[in-house]
Amino acid sequence: RLDVTESFQGIKFPGHMHTEESLNFATDFKFEETDTLIVTYPKSGTTWMQEILTLVLSKGDPTIAQSQPNWARAPWLEQYYCPEVLKASSGPRIITTHLPYHLLAPALQHCKAKVIYVARNVKDVCVSYYHFHKMANFLPDPGTFPEFLKNFLKGDVHYGSWFDHVNGWTGHAKNFQNFFYITYEEMFQDLRGSLQKVSHFLQCTLCKEELNLAEKHCSFNSMKENAMVNYTLIPKEIIDHSKGKFMRKGKVGDWKNMFTEEQSGLVDEVYFSQMADSSLLFQWD
Ligand code: PPS
Repeated sequence: RLDVTESFQGIKFPGHMHTEESLNFATDFKFEETDTLIVTYPKSGTTWMQEILTLVLSKGDPTIAQSQPNWARAPWLEQYYCPEVLKASSGPRIITTHLPYHLLAPALQHCKAKVIYVARNVKDVCVSYYHFHKMANFLPDPGTFPEFLKNFLKGDVHYGSWFDHVNGWTGHAKNFQNFFYITYEEMFQDLRGSLQKVSHFLQCTLCKEELNLAEKHCSFNSMKENAMVNYTLIPKEIIDHSKGKFMRKGKVGDWKNMFTEEQSGLVDEVYFSQMADSSLLFQWD
């Protein structure tokens, strides 16, 4: 495993992709008005939103989506290669981040960049993150699912607590001039409607045929075959595809296959106590 940990202001990051310098670069970043920032807690629909933005901005033309890896067209601000990618890019930038709100708030103050926050229900995130730990050699060995769940609920995982992330970003939405919020569940239930909402937010209207194309290329089945987003380009030493798939299931409610009733009850308890002031309430049965 390559699981060196970089700790930055109390949050753990995979040291393989992050350095103190890269994290300082991110937190001091000078955003431009034309930037669009995708913000997510890991496993919440990051890659999906990167694909949606790419397809909306290219009006359904899949050329870029099928020829440029997602990290090159929508780099993670906090990862070490970001400055190089941004230097080489021209035109409006799409930038991605998993940083919690408090780390990026100073850089985003008074900024007019567009911010898109994608949230996913905590139980599905936990299951997806657990499986990803098993194949991603830059993350620690997750141990058993009950062990991982315990650490996840404490926020003792890389990128910090899901609860702090979602509360931090959605609770400060009013601080941004251009903030758009959507859930993985809504994208799953109505991909076409979600594409329309994103295109409206970006002020980039798509005609019916363009929307048809965008919808086709952003589907789970298309994306799982697209080497530019399914991470099969990454060497086995970093992401081991013999241990799982990045595009794993792409479903809502997969947690039911993993959680016991007791574990589900425990998450409900933590959820309702930590999200008491949130306007965001996920539903699960
Ligand atoms: S990461 O590592 O943080 O960038 O991961 P992220 O992209 O946020 O999340 C990965 C999960 O999103 C699922 N996914 C999709 N679901 C439905 N439709 C589409 N098009 C899609 N693209 C990615 C992916 O399968 C991971 O979820 P799980 O539950 O593990 O399948």
